[in-house]
Amino acid sequence: MKIQNYINGEWKEPSTGQFAPVINPATGETIAEVAMSGPNDIDEAVQAAKEAQKQWALVPAPKRAEILYKVGMLLKERKEQLARLLTMEMGKVIEEARGEVQEGIDMAFYMAGEGRRLFGDTTPSELKDKFAMSVRTPVGVVGIITPWNFPIAIATWKSFPAIVAGNAVVWKPAPETPIMAQELARIFEEAGLPPGVFHVVHGDGPTVGNALVEHPDVKVISFTGSNEVGRMIAEKCGRLLKKVSLEMGGKNAVIVMDDADLTLAVDGIIWSAFGTSGQRCTACSRVIVHERVKQELERRLLEAVKTLKIGNGLDETVKVGPVIHEEALQKIDRYVRIGVEEGAKLLVGGYILREGDYARGFYYAPTIFTDVTPNMRIAREEIFGPVVSIISVRSLDEAIAVNNSVDYGLSSAIFTRDVNNVFRAMRDLDTGIVYVNAGTTGAEIHLPFGGTKGTGNGHRDSGVAALDVFTEWRSIYVDFSGKLQRAQIDTDD
Ligand code: UN1
Repeated sequence: MKIQNYINGEWKEPSTGQFAPVINPATGETIAEVAMSGPNDIDEAVQAAKEAQKQWALVPAPKRAEILYKVGMLLKERKEQLARLLTMEMGKVIEEARGEVQEGIDMAFYMAGEGRRLFGDTTPSELKDKFAMSVRTPVGVVGIITPWNFPIAIATWKSFPAIVAGNAVVWKPAPETPIMAQELARIFEEAGLPPGVFHVVHGDGPTVGNALVEHPDVKVISFTGSNEVGRMIAEKCGRLLKKVSLEMGGKNAVIVMDDADLTLAVDGIIWSAFGTSGQRCTACSRVIVHERVKQELERRLLEAVKTLKIGNGLDETVKVGPVIHEEALQKIDRYVRIGVEEGAKLLVGGYILREGDYARGFYYAPTIFTDVTPNMRIAREEIFGPVVSIISVRSLDEAIAVNNSVDYGLSSAIFTRDVNNVFRAMRDLDTGIVYVNAGTTGAEIHLPFGGTKGTGNGHRDSGVAALDVFTEWRSIYVDFSGKLQRAQIDTDD
């Protein structure tokens, strides 16, 4: 299968004529080829998007929303088929792939509802016979750059609010996961989205991503990916005075207090640390445990890890799939060596699986370090794999300080039965998402998603907050007094 670009409602060969293999990380097999486009393809898509957006913005928002509603129905109908393709393309286990498609369905219905809201404010004027209101207006052409770890969900988080708000979208998906992009474009087409409102241009970041970021007719960039690339994009957008929304990962912690339900805590940690093989922005990569329960927690975690079946995610009994590619395996392994050199104690895992069937795919053993100190690199840097570090503390204050000491701020969690601990954690943990008695993953689409510090730049995906990224506020004053009324001056009778 050759995956082409989708430009102006047509499947098109990239101007470069170049393609790259798409590899199933569970088996190492090539399952497709993806277009590796050039700047010309971006330009073609942006020009078409610019034209189409003018008409799209004039379609009443509830009508735009009806198309999203159909998109939601089609995603729902094809949930199983999409989930299987998703697992083949990026490796997450089938149950999680179904969950990811579900996030797209949820977002479609939620944003379809926004078509009948898109609320602004009406507010009194300070003057007589004058009316004041604010309305959301589309920004024009939106550029979207997404990662491979949630190849369909993140695309829906960004494109659905953009489209319902009256924008046109040019999307550069990760080259590892073009199949999901192709499926989403097909669904938009079937749902009746006019040609030109949604485009997919495949390729790499330095060429295609960069062309999208720098294109003068692209007014907003919404990016999810690494901190390093996010900073580069923000610098460019800063110079071009472009709006940019960034979501750049985390170093998320689960805090386990001495009064916690340890069974629950273990379930939460295992799920958050090893789900999606640790390749979630929200994955738990630190466990901050009260010293009184450290030993018992370690014992139980060890027991739980041993029951995890690792393998091809299409097998329903498998709990941990492969990581995305060899490069990721090597990066994870490098971090594990660093942890050992730093003096952390390897409790379990710490190696690449190369035996038998594992040899063909990219599998890393679920790994737990203990006796980790907060200043070690494995406790500070995002590894993006199935590796978690246990740090012990003596109090809630210390736990919160350790949680907040990293450069990221996406998600955090606390397990405790003490209501005072809960409310202090809700106030003092400095992340964009906080969980109480649940792990660090599992955000729902109708709440804002994003984080503080190195995770983001003040914007949010999901929820109503997503509309702030894709709209400009217009404040409108209607004076029906028939005379000149000067604000701030003619306010007295
Ligand atoms: C991500 O890893 O970028 O909360 C997205 C979660 C999922 C989304 C993760 N709903 O883990």
